[in-house]
Amino acid sequence: KKIVLAYSGGLDTSVIIPWLKENYAGAEVIAVCADVGQPDDFAAIEKKAYASGADKVYVADIKKEFMEAYVWPTIQAGAVYEGKYLLGTSFARPLISKKLVEIAQAEGADAIAHGATGKGNDQVRFELTVKALAPTMTLIAPWRMWNLKSREDELKYAAAHGVPIDYQSEENPYPYSMDWNIWHLSHEGDDLEDPAKAPEDMVYMVSKTPEQAPDTPEYVTIDFVGGIPVAVNGTALDAVSLITALNEVGARNGIGIVDIVENRLVGMKSRGIYENPGGAILMYAHRELEYLCLDRDTFHYKEKMAHTFAELVYDGKWFSPLREALSAFVEKTQETVTGQIKLKLYKGNIISAGSTSPYSLYNEEYVTFGEDEVYNQVDAEGFINLFGLPLKMRALAMLKAQNK
Ligand code: ARG
Ligand code: SIN
Repeated sequence: KKIVLAYSGGLDTSVIIPWLKENYAGAEVIAVCADVGQPDDFAAIEKKAYASGADKVYVADIKKEFMEAYVWPTIQAGAVYEGKYLLGTSFARPLISKKLVEIAQAEGADAIAHGATGKGNDQVRFELTVKALAPTMTLIAPWRMWNLKSREDELKYAAAHGVPIDYQSEENPYPYSMDWNIWHLSHEGDDLEDPAKAPEDMVYMVSKTPEQAPDTPEYVTIDFVGGIPVAVNGTALDAVSLITALNEVGARNGIGIVDIVENRLVGMKSRGIYENPGGAILMYAHRELEYLCLDRDTFHYKEKMAHTFAELVYDGKWFSPLREALSAFVEKTQETVTGQIKLKLYKGNIISAGSTSPYSLYNEEYVTFGEDEVYNQVDAEGFINLFGLPLKMRALAMLKAQNK
């Protein structure tokens, strides 16, 4: 048996390596570490995987694909889960899972294992992707199977099975469950589990708080072509450099901190803190440009669709016919979403500071209340008579019914 494991280098996934070998006799374990932009030492992670008993280790840099094929389409869709969550973990899981499938197929492996717990969303996202891309692959979720009930159990198991333990950080770990990639950073658990409590400043790993941010505003301009961001402050940047630059700008101004009690797919509510400095800026800027460039019908239809898109992504259905069909719709709408957005960033706030587009549908000449050639105010009377006809007819009918 050959098992491909989604490996992070943390205690959980390190313990899974000997656990798989113990429970699937003779199994070869191939650890796959996906570099989605988390600030890790991948050489050290590779070493740790081997030391924990892995037979082979892959480190896959998938940052570019993540940005171009997952983040950009989601920005274009304007998808935000429950009005706040920018889906940072949700849309990274399907890509990581797709890499696991590719490596499993190349290696002739028959199973894929992951370290997500049985109480969360991530297990669903990993497994739905494998089902969609490799329907006969076996899935192994040790968290739903083993009897390691606590961190102490895990540390004991690790010590007994030769998994290297960095006692300094393992015994005093950062208390939150974190997921970090180039788009976002999430914190859940520990004292955050009480939504009555505001998060301590120490929660934030990249963002300044608004209080720590500079007392003078910072301006930033972003250029979009076809709904895709291509330049910051006039400098053309590839996707990875662009989000990296905006993360820095946003973080120092306290932008993009989200605190939400969200509805998990698996039934319970959970409280999370997210850091999205660059993401918040891009989402805001993209929408600003759509205000200028999209007609009313398309804009409103797209807004409704964004809700469904966000739900699909959150629920792990990236590789589904509906998500793909919605993306095709979105792509069509983005043909004219080209232009420049200027924003003022100030102590956690994003403030519009001017937008321009060669495809702008806004017309200063027509919107003015003065005389113009296109809009004849007399036309409005007939329009209102017919537009309001159903309301008038109903009111007349009600009067008639009451007078009977
Ligand atoms: N609640 C968020 C989501 O469901 C973040 C999950 C973070 N995952 C993690 N393994 N820490 O997308
Ligand atoms: C986990 O349970 O592995 C993390 C949280 C989540 O997936 O929602």
